[in-house]
Amino acid sequence: MQLGAFTLPNALFVAPMAGVTDRPFRKLCKRLGAGYAVSEMVTSRPDLQDSLKTSRRANHDGEAAPIAVQIAGTDAQMMADAARYNIDRGAQIIDINMGCPAKKVCNKWAGSALMQDEVLAIEIVEAVVAACLPHNVPVTLKIRTGWCASVRNAPTLALAAEAAGIQMLTVHGRTREQGYKGHAEHDTVAHIKSRLHIPVVANGDIDSPQMAREVLQRTGADAIMIGRAAQGRPWIFREIAHYLATGELLPPPDLQEVRTWLLDHLEDHYALYGEYTGVRSARKHLGWYAQALPLPAGAAAAFRGRINALTTCEEQLRCVSESLDEWSEPMPGHEYDPQPWRLAA
Ligand SMILES: Cc1cc2nc3c(=O)[nH]c(=O)nc-3n(C[C@H](O)[C@H](O)[C@H](O)COP(=O)(O)O)c2cc1C
Repeated sequence: MQLGAFTLPNALFVAPMAGVTDRPFRKLCKRLGAGYAVSEMVTSRPDLQDSLKTSRRANHDGEAAPIAVQIAGTDAQMMADAARYNIDRGAQIIDINMGCPAKKVCNKWAGSALMQDEVLAIEIVEAVVAACLPHNVPVTLKIRTGWCASVRNAPTLALAAEAAGIQMLTVHGRTREQGYKGHAEHDTVAHIKSRLHIPVVANGDIDSPQMAREVLQRTGADAIMIGRAAQGRPWIFREIAHYLATGELLPPPDLQEVRTWLLDHLEDHYALYGEYTGVRSARKHLGWYAQALPLPAGAAAAFRGRINALTTCEEQLRCVSESLDEWSEPMPGHEYDPQPWRLAA
């Protein structure tokens, strides 16, 4: 798939997830088969651009191209400035967030709340496209199917955004009103795909190789984007890639291989956040990993308990290393759960 000057290696994308898909996690997903990843959203407010959180989010050191940065905001001029600011710091693609239902975002009428005001939404798209054009940076957009059940305006907005110059559109198959409840529907994506000329990406509840294939076939989408199912299971990308290529399911990953991935992830995580924040923010990832791995009953909870009590990088690394060694021993009678992910968000 082509996005501006970039040829993406495959059609498997990592969804932007604030607090989850930071640079270390995106790098690991790309290493394990994802063809493309979008950063966690960064604010367009200039007064917050120098905050530690935003500057960490704008740090793309060592990440494979293309570097896609998602911006969120409500003011067209500020969004254009934010696009330029991030391009100056290495962004090669700018994604506009009109898909996130988080309260913090919606209270400021950003994220998916923008779908309620199509005029402002397109004003923002036009301003960002104009800001990116001189730099040859493609602009992409992420939306939901609509504001609420009675206002499913994604198709109208999609057509207007295409006319305004976006080069790719991602659609999460829920309305803003749904939050993360119910099931994602992909018929709206199929409808939008049939009407647009730019690449369209399907997103929502894709959590297995079989579902990935089904959504691609049903929607005709150019790519799929995976969020929560990759939490603790970044190897889902290579599982899907293998299934799409061969029709066969890969066996669960070797635990010694997982040990290497986790230790590398932790080292990269500490390098970005430092020891105090790094050790604490790594706990959620480690909890998800334990939940996703084929462990005997009670092992994941015991591991989480141990991890949550540790406060240094050295202790956390040692605990992960020793636990993976322990779990690598044969565990008779224990079956791999290919779908450990739960709708927890
Ligand atoms: C913890 C969390 C944080 C998220 N943050 C963002 C974000 O920053 N920007 C965005 O566009 N969507 C965000 N989303 C939405 C996801 O990108 C995705 O659209 C949604 O989770 C549905 O995909 P999934 O079912 O594969 O998880 C977030 C979702 C979660 C669970």
